[in-house]
Amino acid sequence: MTSYETILVGTHGRVGRITLNRPEALNALNSQVMRDVVAAAEAFDADEGIGAIVVTGSEKAFAAGADIKEMEQKSGREMIMDDHFGAWARFAAVRTPVIAAVSGYALGGGCELAMMCDIIVAGDTARFGQPEINLGVIPGMGGTQRLIRAVGAYVAADMVLTGRMLSADEAQRAGLVSRVVPAADLEAEAAKVAETIAAKSLPSVYAAKAALDAALETTLAEGLRFERHAFAALFDTADQKEGMAAFREKRQPDFTNR
Ligand code: CAA
Repeated sequence: MTSYETILVGTHGRVGRITLNRPEALNALNSQVMRDVVAAAEAFDADEGIGAIVVTGSEKAFAAGADIKEMEQKSGREMIMDDHFGAWARFAAVRTPVIAAVSGYALGGGCELAMMCDIIVAGDTARFGQPEINLGVIPGMGGTQRLIRAVGAYVAADMVLTGRMLSADEAQRAGLVSRVVPAADLEAEAAKVAETIAAKSLPSVYAAKAALDAALETTLAEGLRFERHAFAALFDTADQKEGMAAFREKRQPDFTNR
């Protein structure tokens, strides 16, 4: 397996795992982290043997944001010409479901990276925030757009305008976090979610993720049309026949991703 400068990668069965590994900077997301995470996620996405991906950080920090020291002296022109955060769009576009396992700080780009994932599982120590306003800037990796869809206009405005952090419980109540568990159980819980998804039929998982994403990007009428077509297309898979036969025969399905 390829090795990377700023992350650790591994697999367990059909689950790929990406661990941010810049402990000296609380996993701040510099350009190398972006390149590494995108490359690892795309490699897992291209592998039919992988049915779900877990992205995690350390106990203290999922990620404390984009790397402030890397950005500090840049001009607006440089930020535009580099398209400084542009490659993250490739991470958000992987077809394989991604579970963020968040412990400690998920701030700025860290919160935004978690929101590029499909499911956020949090340890009870997790803290979510968009503190960019304290640096004289605003979120730049999707915070104003994805947060508002996740938690609604008023909680999003509170976070983005004041920079205040939400606890794991607050984040769950607001709809940002899917599950909260004691920090010691985070890895096991995230693995359980990932393994559950990875055991399904991949074509249906891809279709489900694409339809969920469509809901955030299109009108209701277009989204419903997309869903109906994606639903219909799955009837050409062997796994649909297997899944429905297994139901009728009162047994577990044996999916082959065909
Ligand atoms: N960028 C670069 N370095 C960072 C960093 C970041 N976002 N966050 C932490 N670090 C570094 C610190 O500079 C420090 O390094 P040194 O030991 O060399 O000084 C090291 O990580 C440990 O951090 P602290 O000593 O600050 O740890 P702490 O426990 O006292 O505080 C914290 C933790 C509250 C998370 C604090 O580090 C902090 O406020 N970090 C910045 C959070 C932030 O503003 N994030 C938004 C960044 S901008 C952004 O993300 C834009 C976007 O939309 C993409």
